Amino acid sequence: MIVSPSLLSADFGNLARDLEMINQSKAQMLHLDVMDGVFVPNISFGFPVIKYVQQLCKKPLDVHLMIVEPQKFVNEVRDCGAEIMNVHFEVCNHLDRVVQQIHDAGMKAGVTINPATPVCLLRDIVAQLDLVLLMSVNPGFGGQKFIPNTLNKVRELRALIAETGSKAVIEVDGGVNDVTGKQLAEAGADVLVAGNYVFKAQDPLKAIETLYNL
Ligand code: DX5
Ligand code: ZN
Repeated sequence: MIVSPSLLSADFGNLARDLEMINQSKAQMLHLDVMDGVFVPNISFGFPVIKYVQQLCKKPLDVHLMIVEPQKFVNEVRDCGAEIMNVHFEVCNHLDRVVQQIHDAGMKAGVTINPATPVCLLRDIVAQLDLVLLMSVNPGFGGQKFIPNTLNKVRELRALIAETGSKAVIEVDGGVNDVTGKQLAEAGADVLVAGNYVFKAQDPLKAIETLYNL
């Protein structure tokens, strides 16, 4: 399993220490949650923080934008050194264009859907995507409870990817732990995002390894 720990749950007073832990871990990516207080009812961190993270973190950056009008910030995200730029389906009137902009900027394109957004709405875009991010909580906060219907959505998305010949990987975000992670692995997820389960663990390296071994 590919593991992408979510920095939102890290200790921001000891960011360099937490990033060194990520460097030493089996995590293959680092997930960064950008919030604008408009699309989601919370504000997190922005580009200056991500640039600093990029200098210290050896793993590819998986940037999850929970913001309106993400198309305005494609170059800023690229300049932060992101490997993957995830935009929400719910905020893009011209999703096909945004995906092209992300690719033209040299990044992998991810599209994220909220728990109440059906997988079938991705039918005409999924072949162009490198990643689909399924939210398994309502976005905006770490530490929420996993929504079990996500397992059905993973199975449905797996079938849609096969049917359309897409190369997209399936990432799941929210309420992931050893138990829900195992269920997601069985349903066909490729990448697990985990915030609280990793950073609030007694032994974060071991928590990452547990998910990695699923
Ligand atoms: C929620 C964010 C998540 C969050 C996950 O809006 O997108 O990435 O950090 O946190 P946990 O794993 O604690 O649910
Ligand atoms: Zn996220």
